[in-house]
Amino acid sequence: MTLARLAEYPRIELVGGPTPLQRLSRLSDYLGREIYIKRDDVMAVAPGGNKLRKLEFLAAAALNEGADTLLTAGAIQSNHVRQTAAVAARLGMHCVALLENPAGIQAANYLSNGNRLLFDLYHVESIYCEALNHPEERLAEQATRLEAQGFRPFIIPPGGSNPLGALGYVACAQEIAAQCAGWLAPAAVIVASGSAGTQAGLGVGMASVMPDTPVIGVTVSRDATAQSGRVSALQQSTAALLSLKAPAKITLWDSWYSPGYGIPSDAGNAAVKLLARLEGVLLDPVYTGKAMAGLIEGLEQARFPGHGPLLFIHTGGAPALFAYHPMS
Ligand SMILES: Cc1ncc(COP(=O)(O)O)c(C=O)c1O
Repeated sequence: MTLARLAEYPRIELVGGPTPLQRLSRLSDYLGREIYIKRDDVMAVAPGGNKLRKLEFLAAAALNEGADTLLTAGAIQSNHVRQTAAVAARLGMHCVALLENPAGIQAANYLSNGNRLLFDLYHVESIYCEALNHPEERLAEQATRLEAQGFRPFIIPPGGSNPLGALGYVACAQEIAAQCAGWLAPAAVIVASGSAGTQAGLGVGMASVMPDTPVIGVTVSRDATAQSGRVSALQQSTAALLSLKAPAKITLWDSWYSPGYGIPSDAGNAAVKLLARLEGVLLDPVYTGKAMAGLIEGLEQARFPGHGPLLFIHTGGAPALFAYHPMS
């Protein structure tokens, strides 16, 4: 299978070249297994994160449609909103975001520091709402309001997770294959799985370029049954954009999302501290800390195939450290 059709989709440069793929030497010694990390937290904008790969395709589509406003939704500490806002600033566009507080956290740092602080710096028009149960409807209402005011909004779904956005992670799979060629054959790729675009794109891409390497999604908001439907639907629609068949197998681990989306866990916070102390790498308490907890405990439980190296995708999120304060 080939990813040739990927080049047909308009794309703007936001990532700033291939992100580093590094060996985590001290973590590898500590865990007794070779661990590599793909540094998607280190990019040219905002200061990085998985949404920028999606936005390379989404923002290009917005510009092609003549939009002047990026309209999206997420949590008060959304990394997605932060990156969308930074891209809008860079492109000279307006950014409007619907914000919810999914876990009802009232700590001052949650409400005003971390990503939320950056929304203001990037000049987001922030609109608070009760709960984003039907974000498509709320976003459509806002689009109507903005049009009445003379703006030309382009709607980006929460997490940038639609087929066009997921193409960003198909492209990431290509990048990983090029970086690994001839020297690294990961036994598995591990990634946090939330709105599902990252895992879906990686799944479609890896099936083409490294078909022997499974993609393991560690869920951050729901159980594997619920998440599986989302990943599967998005893999199918993403594969269809490229005239490919979606991979049949989806692997999801769901033992690390509790106590719930946006609520830190002891295991996730322990992983955040471990990576900071052993490697100087900053994870976050909502996504990458929980995914790394899955990697560490998955190793303890001998859940990985074979004995080869593992590749962890660092999807960003460190600004949330200043909102959640995982040391306390
Ligand atoms: C830091 C970080 N990692 C992982 C994810 C999950 O990615 P996806 O929503 O594509 O499943 C997100 C989503 O917001 C995120 O902000």
